[in-house]
Amino acid sequence: MLIAGNWKMNTDVSSSVELARGVIQESEHAGAVNVAVCPPAPLLSVVGEALAGSHVRLGAQNMYWVDSGAFTGEISAQMLSSLGCHYVIVGHSERRQYFGETDVEVNKKVRQSVKAGLVPIICVGERLNQRKAGKEQEVVAAQVQHALEGMEVRASDSFVIAYEPVWAIGTGETATPEQAQGMHKFIRTLVRQQFGNQIADGLHILYGGSMKPSNAEELLIQNDVDGGLIGGASLKADIFGQIIQAAQKL
Ligand code: PGA
Repeated sequence: MLIAGNWKMNTDVSSSVELARGVIQESEHAGAVNVAVCPPAPLLSVVGEALAGSHVRLGAQNMYWVDSGAFTGEISAQMLSSLGCHYVIVGHSERRQYFGETDVEVNKKVRQSVKAGLVPIICVGERLNQRKAGKEQEVVAAQVQHALEGMEVRASDSFVIAYEPVWAIGTGETATPEQAQGMHKFIRTLVRQQFGNQIADGLHILYGGSMKPSNAEELLIQNDVDGGLIGGASLKADIFGQIIQAAQKL
């Protein structure tokens, strides 16, 4: 199980450190549950320091796919790993929607992150009109296949997939446990076809989209739901802690 907080463009130097400390406390009894937080890029350093010596892992929210050079404003995978990042979120729907990120770019980021020793949390998910048209599997299959194209995978923990139906992100609307389970199982089958049983069985497939303490357990208990990528509910340590506890009980 992996419970990861996506802080998006929230917090500042002092509030990020306070939140990180709170998450460490909430994770003390996390047992076998892996916990991670993904603060905004300028705060990775201070949050990384706050997390030192704890079991909570650091993740970034985005990166660029080139090693280094004249790319004003961009952040390389190597910079992230030198900051102590374990994870990097790639292809979040907000990046696809507001910053025009394409499947081709997502694939470049995925491959570059793995090369730098990071674990990409690859986000996929359909929009509401696509689900209404019955095209959700087609959309997600294309996103997964593009993202993983040409990737060399040695272990099941070298990448993570997060299924985040766009209509459930930040809307308070959650996929039903059956909808989540159905899509997660489908994604695992796609990974099985490409990488075989060992990788597919060990892969963490996270659910994201308005996960909160009141719905965490019914989602996390599903066979193919191996954790959560949590936005809004990760910004308060005690609420995030309740989701960690729900995962820990299962
Ligand atoms: P949410 O965001 O939990 O606020 O819906 C999840 C995400 O976008 O990763």
